[in-house]
Amino acid sequence: MILVTGGAGYIGSHFVRYYTQCRPAEKIVVLDNLVEGHLEALEGLSNVHFERGDINEFDAVKGILKKHSVDAVVHFASYCYVGESQENPSKYYENNVAGSISLFRAMDECGVKKLVFSSSCATYGVPTKLPIDETHPQNPINVYGLTKFLIERILEGYAYTKDWSFTALRYFNAAGAHPDALIGESHAPETHIIPLALKTALGTKEQLHVFGDDYETPDGSCIRDYIHVEDLASAHLLAVEKLSEQKGGQFINLGTAHGASVKEIVALCEEITGKKINHSFSPRRSGDPARLVADPGKAVSYLGWRPQHDLRSIIETAWKWEQNKRY
Ligand SMILES: NC(=O)c1ccc[n+]([C@@H]2O[C@H](COP(=O)([O-])OP(=O)(O)OC[C@H]3O[C@@H](n4cnc5c(N)ncnc54)[C@H](O)[C@@H]3O)[C@@H](O)[C@H]2O)c1
Repeated sequence: MILVTGGAGYIGSHFVRYYTQCRPAEKIVVLDNLVEGHLEALEGLSNVHFERGDINEFDAVKGILKKHSVDAVVHFASYCYVGESQENPSKYYENNVAGSISLFRAMDECGVKKLVFSSSCATYGVPTKLPIDETHPQNPINVYGLTKFLIERILEGYAYTKDWSFTALRYFNAAGAHPDALIGESHAPETHIIPLALKTALGTKEQLHVFGDDYETPDGSCIRDYIHVEDLASAHLLAVEKLSEQKGGQFINLGTAHGASVKEIVALCEEITGKKINHSFSPRRSGDPARLVADPGKAVSYLGWRPQHDLRSIIETAWKWEQNKRY
């Protein structure tokens, strides 16, 4: 059985739903403290056993691993706000790094040696070449990215010393929602551009603030690589399946190789919603690179993964969700 930490969160819940659809005969355990997650995101899934708890609770996590005979972990649980990580680094070291160490120790004591980890393109920092492949130097420029970088190194130690098999998936910008709008993105506060633009279109947000329109990009706004959350879910399932034949650690980018600028996002959101999006530009935010675009070649060659959704599909599904949000 697999254990999914953070499975009530945005990406974790899409993975859990996808997994139960692809493997209807299998059960899955979700561990989430619901600090950021939503129990509603798991509604209607009969094969999911939910455990409310924290990855830092060593004895409880050990109990869950044993009780459910867990043989692999998919580890999404984390705090994810870059700005907050700069203001309160201890919160991020304690939850993301110390929490992961406690989880790994519990896994080690229970003989669980397989793991898929949610890493991030934030581990690369400011790119020195584009697109970014997995050999690009990692120089995180914020505490959030540093926590992901540190966890990757800790996992390497477990692979060397304890024979673990793990895959760290370095996501670029996750976006979109389940095509039926059953689940979707719901962060508080929301910091991601697509839901913020759509909230502005819907009128639940007055104005969209865009940081910087003087970058060295064709239209002056930042370029990012947006990946549909359902494509992330399918990559996780492939990564889990691969672990049984894998030795040691793998690091794999999850992006599409297509960059879109903030201005292009706003224009496409206006076209899809049929509404004008009231937006303004403020000065650049420090530490925001002009462009971040993935080379996803390894995800394709190693995992056999192919993203199914383009930017239009990302915004269409996110818009459907935004208008029908249940949580
Ligand atoms: N959203 C993105 O664009 C993006 C990009 C790169 C990487 N990631 C990573 O993907 C993962 C999921 O991101 P998300 O956007 O779904 O975030 P999210 O906040 O929606 O989900 C995280 C979940 O983890 C839970 N959680 C946090 N700390 C916990 C703890 N100590 N014990 C138990 N549960 C805990 C939260 O309650 C939440 O349900 C995170 O690790 C994040 O760093 C996200």
